[in-house]
Amino acid sequence: MLTKFVEAAKKSQVPEGTMLSVKAENEDILIACVDGDYYAINNLCSHQGGWLDQGELLTESCEVLCPLHDGSFDLKTGEPTAEPCKEPVAAYAVRIEGDTILVGPPEK
Ligand code: FES
Repeated sequence: MLTKFVEAAKKSQVPEGTMLSVKAENEDILIACVDGDYYAINNLCSHQGGWLDQGELLTESCEVLCPLHDGSFDLKTGEPTAEPCKEPVAAYAVRIEGDTILVGPPEK
């Protein structure tokens, strides 16, 4: 689990409507850009570990669809939004400093 804010990517690496897989403090993190806002959740599906960045970004609902069994997660909260996913994935706090995207511990 992230313990502090760390640099994860440059904004230019995550254009509108795309996702990027990054590693920060040994965490596999998915960063997505939807409507100009950046979201960060754990990249491993809580069902059977599918790589969410290999799935589909659903920009209208701000969700990511897992590539393995069509489960999905809310990018804002990490909560599952479709079966077979039942457990949430970590949702990280995001800060923007200039052109840099930083991710940090989940905000409680
Ligand atoms: S591993 Fe993601 S839905 Fe099964």
